[in-house]
Amino acid sequence: MRLQKNGGKAVMPVLKETQPENREILLQASGIKRVFGRGDTAVTALSDIHLAVPRGSVVALKGRSGSGKTTLLNVLSTLDDPTEGSVQFEGREITGLSAKARNELRRRDIGLIFQAYGLVPLMSALENVEFGLRIAGSSKAGREDAEWALERVGMKDRMKHRPPELSGGEQQRVAIARAIVHKPKLLIADEPTAELDSRMGLQVIRLFRELVLSSGMTILLTTHDPGIMELVDHVIALEDGTIVSQTINASPLT
Ligand SMILES: Nc1ncnc2c1ncn2[C@@H]1O[C@H](COP(=O)(O)OP(=O)(O)OP(=O)(O)O)[C@@H](O)[C@H]1O
Ligand SMILES: [Mg+2]
Repeated sequence: MRLQKNGGKAVMPVLKETQPENREILLQASGIKRVFGRGDTAVTALSDIHLAVPRGSVVALKGRSGSGKTTLLNVLSTLDDPTEGSVQFEGREITGLSAKARNELRRRDIGLIFQAYGLVPLMSALENVEFGLRIAGSSKAGREDAEWALERVGMKDRMKHRPPELSGGEQQRVAIARAIVHKPKLLIADEPTAELDSRMGLQVIRLFRELVLSSGMTILLTTHDPGIMELVDHVIALEDGTIVSQTINASPLT
C-alpha cells in the first residue's frame, strides 16, 4: 500500500458550495428533526440536520454513542420518518412515501448494513447473500450475482461456510456482500468496522473505495474510528443530535 498525503483538509461550513468538481448530489437532507416519545419523556435525537451526499463519494458520520448516528441513518434510508424535515434521493422527495414505495426504493437503490450483521446462522455465506437478493425481490437467478459480491469482499473461497464458522471480520464481509449484491446506488453502513481490528477495518474501507470506483456506488457510513476519517471524502460530526462540523478531505489516504 502506498500512502499519499498531498493535500490537506479544510473545514467547510457549506458543503454544497465546496464539492470537488461540483458533483451531483445523490442524497440530501434538510431541516431534519427527530423526537422520540412525547411530553416529559420526549427525547430529541436529531435537530436542524442539513447535509448533502455527492454521488460517488464516501461520507462518514462520526459522533459519540447516543449522538444520533443510527437515528439519522434510519431517517435517510426511509426506515424511519423524521418528525420534521425533508430527505431527497436523486432530487426526489422520499419522506412521507408509502410503505410500498419505500420498500421499492430500498430494494432497488439502497443497500443496508446494520450495526449487528444480521446473517442467518444456518445458511452458508453464499446462501446468505442469495437470500439478500431474494429479499431485494430480484427475479434473476441469484447465484452468479452472489458469487460476484462474495468475490468483491474476498470471501468467495469461504462461501460454503456458515457464519458461526467465520471470524467477526469475515462475517462483516459477508454482510457487505449481501448489501451490495443488487448493486445499489447508495450503500448505508452503520458502524461497519466496529467489530474489526484496525487492519481489517482499513480493508473494509478500501473495499468501499473500490466499490465507488468500479461500480459507481455512493457510501454513507458511521464510525467511531479516528483512523477512518483520513480515508473518506467527507466527515460529518454529530453532537447531541446536531451537526457540529463538516470536513472535506481534499485527498483521502488510499
Ligand atoms: N426508539 C427510541 N426511543 C427513544 N429514544 C431513542 C430511540 N432510538 C434512539 N433513541 C435515543 O436517541 C439518541 C440517539 O440514539 P442513536 O442510536 O441514534 O445514537 P448513536 O449515535 O447511533 O449511538 P451508538 O454510537 O451507541 O450506536 C439516544 O439518546 C437514544 O437513547
Ligand atoms: Mg448507533
